[in-house]
Amino acid sequence: MANNDQWQSRIGFVLACIGSAVGLGNIWRFSYMTYENGGGAFLIPYFVALLTAGIPIMLLEFGVGHKFNSTSVGAFAKINKKWEALGWWPQLASFGLMSYYMVILAWALSYVGYAFTGAWGGDPNAFFFGNYLQLSSGFWDLQGFSMPVIISFVLIWIINYVITVQGVSAGIEKACKIFMPLLFALSIIIVIRGVTLPGAWEGINWYLAPNFTKIANAQVWVAAYGQIFFTLSVAFGVMIAYASYLPRKSDIVNNAFITCLANCGYSFFMGFGTFGIIGYMAKTQGVAFQDVITQSIGLAFVAYPKAIDLLPAANTLFGIMFFTALIFAGLSSSVSLIEALASGLIEKFDMPRKKAINTIAAVGFLIGLMYTTKAGLYIFDTVDQYVAKYIIIMVGLYECILIGWIYGSDKIRNYVNPLSDFAIGKWWDVCIKYITPVILGVSFVQLVYGDLVRPYGGYPWSGIIVFGWGSIAAVIIVGIVLASKPWKSDVLSRPVEEVQE
Ligand code: ALA
Repeated sequence: MANNDQWQSRIGFVLACIGSAVGLGNIWRFSYMTYENGGGAFLIPYFVALLTAGIPIMLLEFGVGHKFNSTSVGAFAKINKKWEALGWWPQLASFGLMSYYMVILAWALSYVGYAFTGAWGGDPNAFFFGNYLQLSSGFWDLQGFSMPVIISFVLIWIINYVITVQGVSAGIEKACKIFMPLLFALSIIIVIRGVTLPGAWEGINWYLAPNFTKIANAQVWVAAYGQIFFTLSVAFGVMIAYASYLPRKSDIVNNAFITCLANCGYSFFMGFGTFGIIGYMAKTQGVAFQDVITQSIGLAFVAYPKAIDLLPAANTLFGIMFFTALIFAGLSSSVSLIEALASGLIEKFDMPRKKAINTIAAVGFLIGLMYTTKAGLYIFDTVDQYVAKYIIIMVGLYECILIGWIYGSDKIRNYVNPLSDFAIGKWWDVCIKYITPVILGVSFVQLVYGDLVRPYGGYPWSGIIVFGWGSIAAVIIVGIVLASKPWKSDVLSRPVEEVQE
């Protein structure tokens, strides 16, 4: 039985995929990463990562989801029953990511309200960390909840619940058809405002000026590959599930390219707005660019409020538009992160959608409460590093090895080509079998090495072990447990699609 819901239109599917991909990561993470890793020169590893890993894995995930007509759980189990846990891990990683993603969305929601009054006053930094997050001294100093955070957190969960409980076409597709055009309209206004401010082009030059010395640094490449995975929502279990909801006769190759290019194009475009505003701030405050942005979170919740205050006109309106754009971008991603795990539970256990969403919402909400405490920022930062980077890179790596070498990438290529407007050539097999796994393998070793020699973020080892390694262990163990349970649906006995001529 399992999930029989389908996208109602091609545009609905593409908007949902772009909606999942375009998220908080595009607005603050991309700009900050570019700024930190060599400006314009970072765009080289970024686009290499897009071409050698992002697009090939998107094609792989669309192909696998559509061919097996299953989520990552069903697809891996159909290839080999022993591989089922490998299908649960990306879905559980999405769940982990979703648990804190909701908190950032909650911040954005609060800030829409604050934008009306300019509540951050003259010091957005003190306001964000002090008044709003009420940040404590460290991991183990929880000090209870920050009330303003928790109220928005509840509201954000209600919105996510209402969308996902209605299903793929009536919930997610409909929401993305509303959110995405609104997001693009708001983004265009933000970028036009950004690039027309005095001093903007100095900021944009900074954004694009290549610092080639950084390209030799392996960490910059690790950062670029990590960003591509995060931003495209690949290796999350999302895209396999989304492609499984496509009607049988659907273009795969074109849709994969559209999703990847629209997402990365959007990030690049937004960078102009962000750096235009930073250029303006540097000019009006008479400070150096590097002093304008301090850290990635600070970019959205500290630098932007500061910029909003400094704007020559329409400050309140601009503030509301910016934080509303963050919410639209984030919501279309957060619903996809919920859907990743829901799709697996529905498929394997024949769970009614409502029960699957209720379970995910209850557990996700309770775990998320941890991030609304006054130590929440430390915990969230650590879980982000470990779940978002380690598990996602690991999943990307084994997807390439298992599909490329053991199942056979040619089978996926021969399946998607007749369905698509244009065909993918052997270059795709080369990426999946050689280039992507080698780069991901090297990135993984770099990441582990970097984190073992010095604790991530200078945090105490106790916090890193409990929240970082602990969340990885939880994903792995829960995946194995779920895989060991008997199937309640008949999904595994469904025939796998053969090549369609
Ligand atoms: N792809 C989503 C983002 O960039 C998760 O935020």
